[in-house]
Amino acid sequence: MQKIKMTTPLVEMDGDEMTRIIWKLIKDILITPYVDLKTEYYDLGLKHRDETDDKVTVDAANATKKYGVAVKCATITPNYQRVEEYDLKEMWKSPNGTIRAILDGTVFRSPIIVKGITPYIPTWEKPIVIARHAYGDIYKAVDGLAGEGKAELTYTDTDGKKNTVTVFDFDGDGVVLAMHNTDKSIKSFAKACFNYALEVKMPLIFSAKDTISKKYDGKFKEIFEKIFNEEYKAEFEKEGVDYTYTLIDDAVARIIRSNGGVVWACKNYDGDVMSDMVATAFGSLAMMTSVLVSPDGVYEFEAAHGTVTRHYYKYLKGEETSTNPVATIFAWTGALKKRGALDGLSDLADFAERLERATIETIESGKMTGDLVGMFNLPGVKAEKLTTEEFIKEIAKKI
Ligand SMILES: NC(=O)c1ccc[n+]([C@@H]2O[C@H](COP(=O)([O-])OP(=O)(O)OC[C@H]3O[C@@H](n4cnc5c(N)ncnc54)[C@H](O)[C@@H]3O)[C@@H](O)[C@H]2O)c1
Repeated sequence: MQKIKMTTPLVEMDGDEMTRIIWKLIKDILITPYVDLKTEYYDLGLKHRDETDDKVTVDAANATKKYGVAVKCATITPNYQRVEEYDLKEMWKSPNGTIRAILDGTVFRSPIIVKGITPYIPTWEKPIVIARHAYGDIYKAVDGLAGEGKAELTYTDTDGKKNTVTVFDFDGDGVVLAMHNTDKSIKSFAKACFNYALEVKMPLIFSAKDTISKKYDGKFKEIFEKIFNEEYKAEFEKEGVDYTYTLIDDAVARIIRSNGGVVWACKNYDGDVMSDMVATAFGSLAMMTSVLVSPDGVYEFEAAHGTVTRHYYKYLKGEETSTNPVATIFAWTGALKKRGALDGLSDLADFAERLERATIETIESGKMTGDLVGMFNLPGVKAEKLTTEEFIKEIAKKI
């Protein structure tokens, strides 16, 4: 059999623990037998990040900018315990944070739907994609404690002119918080959302609370509306999808009542909370893909979950594990499909589609990893728990 050729390399970011093991199995069993895989490899495993003083993460992000498409394995974000475990020189920053800052992206999270795994909201038949603005708000806020006295907020313009407003006149203890965002970042967020909705041909909802936060959330609403009307309206009409702005409380009610099939753009905190709610309601974190899309059209695909540390410690003891590789497989297929589309390689894109179908059909035939067994319910099909490797080999049979 002739292998499928690639023309441009994919930026490959390897990672840590159980997902690093799965990464190799996926490549060896599901990809390289069929594709003449061309990648530019970056080892983001914690040991190598430490050896390179985390330069490898920055290099990988810059390579992604250069080539346009990357696939990333889950990585450890070090805390004190990891500094000890890996004898690190420093508590390196989250690789995802570093990559996001360089690519200036929006994160889209989307569930993989399989027959037999019913969402907790039974009407959710199609995916709900959460687009989370990944800059500013409470994540870059200044907060503090207050006592009796006045909290004020002062803005000084470049000429030194000051404008001070009273936040609150305290007659006892309390708390204050000041946060910001920038038009530049909001515009990037809006464009990434409009581009993504067009690409997946799904309607887009953007929600905020401009009735209360008139200027702050009002600015988000205004920027979305302006960019939509000036740059995207005609294309949305052509593709038959629509854009709606609504209040966050109304959006929650609409989403719960919907049958899915929508991209929901959320401000940073809303996206943080809602993406976990949506992932859980769809069944499993291990069935959730994530893609970072930059405003200039650079894509980084990954699984939404972490490195599955608990399973890795079992693996190190020589025990068989049944870790779910589906989201990591879909990170690879997402990246291969995108590379295929950009380079005009339809056989590469077809292969990626085929691998996705084979993965879904394997689960629907009753063969799956342990995390899915308890929630699988398809009349006439008995769920059978396989190890990670057995499951991946079953998928290969279906390809
Ligand atoms: N995007 C990323 O790279 C990313 C995201 C989150 C966490 N992390 C890192 O991962 C490590 C572990 O973090 P965590 O335990 O909070 O998150 P995790 O996603 O690895 O695990 C959370 C829970 O979900 C289960 N789970 C997750 N993925 C699974 C899969 N594929 N198959 C079966 N079960 C699965 C785990 O067993 C665990 O109970 C940490 O060091 C953290 O820094 C990385």
